[in-house]
Amino acid sequence: MSQIIDGKAIAAQIKDELKEEVMRMRSGGISAALAVIQVGRDPASSIYVNNKKKACEYVGIHSEVYELPEEVSQEELLALVGRLNRDDKINGILVQLPLPGHINEESVITAISPKKDVDGFHTENAGRLMVGKKGFIPCTPAGIIQLIKRSGFDIEGKECVVIGRSNIVGKPMAALLLQENGTVTVAHSKTAHLKEVSSRADILVAAIGKPKFITADYVKEGAVVIDVGIHRMADRKMCGDVDFDSVYKKAAAITPVPGGVGPMTIAMLLCNCVEAAKR
Ligand code: GUN
Repeated sequence: MSQIIDGKAIAAQIKDELKEEVMRMRSGGISAALAVIQVGRDPASSIYVNNKKKACEYVGIHSEVYELPEEVSQEELLALVGRLNRDDKINGILVQLPLPGHINEESVITAISPKKDVDGFHTENAGRLMVGKKGFIPCTPAGIIQLIKRSGFDIEGKECVVIGRSNIVGKPMAALLLQENGTVTVAHSKTAHLKEVSSRADILVAAIGKPKFITADYVKEGAVVIDVGIHRMADRKMCGDVDFDSVYKKAAAITPVPGGVGPMTIAMLLCNCVEAAKR
């Protein structure tokens, strides 16, 4: 029987730990506050932003949401980021992605003070992660490390294969697994013999962006399989990058979609907000 890794339960546990920590901090006179900026009204982004707001409320982090119109200029957006950088009451700043085409995402991300960059997307924090210095770690890969460890699996000495090389998931994921002493391979859309490569993995992280792409023949018997993908199928059902039904029988453990990696991303965002307030 394969283990289904319950991301919702692990995220709830982390949120409860954070709630206690926020209470302790408050009695010591420290409060945490997050500013979230959303540009336009993309329905998926609105759901994510609302979930972040609710999660902040649950653990006792103050949150402020800035809803800017789709047509906002880059200068206006940068001016708001600058104001929030200077606002001592705000510890964390998050600009919900994607941004409209006329705005340069990289300029906006690097305008956020690295000390308030709770997404961990700023190049300074990316660099810090690469050299093993303290900084903010992107929430999805940080959550995956927690999922693996809290489910009782060791990373040290294990063959880890990450499929996907984005700045938000694949690259920081590889750096974190390496920090945990895993032997790490990063595969991607141009990787030759992908099935052979992914079948070596004791720990397989799928962040490909293609629904049900990873079938059982990509997976080693007894592997831990982490599914980062989230897709809505024509029948409205959600699925991930992993073909759950076929892989479930072969893996030692697997994350479901929904209810696997997704809830952990928000839990780790809260974790970064608390860390930002403490610093
Ligand atoms: N859009 C989708 N996921 C994320 C995330 O983790 N952070 C931000 N800022 N935007 C996103």
